[in-house]
Parts: sequence; structure tokens; C-alpha cells
Amino acid sequence: MNLLTFASAVSLLIPSALGKQALSSRRDSCDTYVLSGISGGFTEQVSVDFTSAQSSGDAANFLSQHGLSISNYNVASTPVAHDFVPANVLLGNGVLQLKVTSYSGSGSVESAEVVTDDTFAYASVRTVLKSSATFGVCEGNFFYLSDTQETDIEILTSTTLTGNDYVSAGVWMTNQATVEGGTKTTDNVEFTFDPSQDFHEYRIDWSPLATTFYIDGIQINNFSDNVPWDSGYWIWNAWSSGDPYWSNGPPTADSITEIRSIELYKGYTSTTSGTICNV
Ligand SMILES: *[C@@H]1O[C@H](CO)[C@@H](O)[C@H](O)[C@H]1NC(C)=O
Repeated sequence: MNLLTFASAVSLLIPSALGKQALSSRRDSCDTYVLSGISGGFTEQVSVDFTSAQSSGDAANFLSQHGLSISNYNVASTPVAHDFVPANVLLGNGVLQLKVTSYSGSGSVESAEVVTDDTFAYASVRTVLKSSATFGVCEGNFFYLSDTQETDIEILTSTTLTGNDYVSAGVWMTNQATVEGGTKTTDNVEFTFDPSQDFHEYRIDWSPLATTFYIDGIQINNFSDNVPWDSGYWIWNAWSSGDPYWSNGPPTADSITEIRSIELYKGYTSTTSGTICNV
């Protein structure tokens, strides 16, 4: 066998914990993270691994160590308002939980949101997530500055596998229109699995030329229209407004969306330098 096949044969034998450690120390020494389809690269990596989280732990404290915060504000959505309440972002064993509380029938829907502390333009964000099996919730994972600077992946728990009269089945990937009143760039792709049964990686690569969407490492879309350019936040949320044309609901049981890990690359540079790592 040649050296390359020997190396890959050896790496197969390395226990995964050791393999992971080798990988992270390799990545720690990277100056530029380079991605397929993007010219230039990223200079910063943020890794948030919830596998060590305990359900007794403090979510706000855990998140703050990675530059993430829990939202606390109200949205005047219709037909039902929703509130992002800190108490609905929780640690579970090995996961972060975004809860949407079973709706009592009056008042706002208690929802959950996590947001980056800093703003940036361009990123690659990989979120390993298990969707909620409870109907009536929108699960978002997206870049947001304003309604004209946004790129998102959204899962609607009522219509993951089966559409209804107003919403077709599948996951939604969208660049919102960059001019008010413009036409957004969007696609709705059927799932090849039930997203509430297991964890899957949902990823957006956002560069000046395109947003590229991946599920479990497989490219699903690549949009070159309505690509945002301003700096803004990355947001992960779960909410409901009872809108029959979108989230449906509000849920009649507590809904839990679980996130196992987030890997975020930022600090876009059009030129690469130093130690290059392909990610
Ligand atoms: C996505 O589209 C852009 C713009 O056309 C192109 O430069 C890039 O290579 C594409 N990315 C991938 C991963 O195919």
C-alpha cells in the first residue's frame, strides 16, 4: 500500500476520542479555515459542544463562555404574539434545549432563542440539531441583521414530512430579499429522514458570492441572489405564532428542540495566509 492508504488505514484504527483531540489541536493552530466553493477563508473558529452539559447546569453561563446569549424580548406576531423567555433555554444531558411551552390559549407563546454576542459578515455555521416532534413550532438557524439582511434554514414541525393545504413538506432555505418589497430566494426541500428522530447537521456557508446550504455535509442549495453583506447576528430559535400559513400551532404540548453542537467560522478574509485548514 502507498503512504496515503496506509495513513487512512491507521486513522481508522485511532479511537474516536483520540482522533477528535488530534483534530482539535490541529485546528487550534490554523490561521485560515478554507471551505470548498469559497475564495478566501475564515480566521476564527467557535466550537460549542453540549455533550458535556448536565440538565442541572446553567444554560446562560455555559453559553456565555462561547460568546452566546439568551434572548428576552416580545414579538408582536399574529395571530398570536410570542415571547422569547430566558427560562425556555435549558441545558439537558448532552444537549441545549430550546423549549416552546404548551399554549394555554391566552397570552403569548413562550418561546426560546440564542444569539451571538458579536456581529459579523460571512460565516460558516454548522448546527447539529434534533427537531421537535411536537407540531406547531418553527425552528430557525440563521443570520439576521434586518428583514432585508437575512439568510436562514427553517424547520416547521407541523410540516416536516407531510405538507398541508398551505405549507408544503420539508425544510426551508431562504435568502430574504435584500430590497424592501423584493422577491426572496427560497427553496423547500423534502426530508430524506425524519428530523425529529435523530441529530443531523444543518449548515450554511455564507460568503460574498453565495449562500450554500448543506444537510449532513451534502450540498442542497447554492444561492447567489439576495446574498446579505452587512454584519449581523447568528440566531438559533424555536417559536410559534399560530400562523396556519407558516408555524401552525401554537403547540398543545411542550416542544423541545435539541442542539448537540455548534461549529461557527467567522472573520472572513478574501486572502488566505499562514497555516491553512480545510473545514
Ligand atoms: C456557489 O455559487 C457561487 C457563485 O456562483 C460559486 O462561486 C461557488 O463556487 C458555489 N459554491 C459551491 C460550493 O458550489
